Amino acid sequence: MSGPSQMEPELKELREADLPSMLLLEEACFSEAWTRGMLAGSLRGAGAITFGLWVKERLIGCLLARVVLDEAELQSISVHPGFQGQGLGGRLLDRLLADCGRQGVARIFLEVNKSNQAALGLYAARGFRQLKVLPDYYGAEGDGLLMACELRAGRRDQGA
Ligand SMILES: CC(C)(COP(=O)(O)OP(=O)(O)OC[C@H]1O[C@@H](n2cnc3c(N)ncnc32)[C@H](O)[C@@H]1OP(=O)(O)O)[C@@H](O)C(=O)NCCC(=O)NCCS
Repeated sequence: MSGPSQMEPELKELREADLPSMLLLEEACFSEAWTRGMLAGSLRGAGAITFGLWVKERLIGCLLARVVLDEAELQSISVHPGFQGQGLGGRLLDRLLADCGRQGVARIFLEVNKSNQAALGLYAARGFRQLKVLPDYYGAEGDGLLMACELRAGRRDQGA
């Protein structure tokens, strides 16, 4: 019998109506989860790039980013623990890189916990480089790293 993790998740843009699903995923993925209000804010306004991975009606992955002029910030990326390590985080990030490339974004910034090996591996594999250490950025959870990915012209035509 095939379990839910063996189904190919569908990638779709997120909308206001998806907030309850986003909150559930957030709480499953982060010890310091964003509130509903923070998630709602990330969906609104100019430059928001938001999409999720769905298995049937269940949200199992999410990416939130914002473009301002020719720069973007990756605000959050998450894959439900039961679906991690299957390339889905990579799929979300590849889609962001492709969308940013199409929009002419020059670089994407992000902050990440220095001890988050899974995220660091994912970002490094997609060309993100460390810019600086952010001491105590996550309070008791440790230092952060500011990272950036420079988008080359050749990347702009890649599909998701
Ligand atoms: C970070 C996260 C999104 C990665 O998602 P994922 O679907 O498990 O990642 P993928 O399966 O696409 O892996 C992509 C790459 O990440 C790296 N990676 C993934 N899990 C890893 C781990 N446990 N240790 C080290 N590297 C890892 C590998 O380089 C991998 O490349 P490979 O496929 O060539 O081995 C996921 O672990 C997650 O949601 N974590 C909790 C939330 C979080 O910390 N988000 C990031 C901060 S905003």
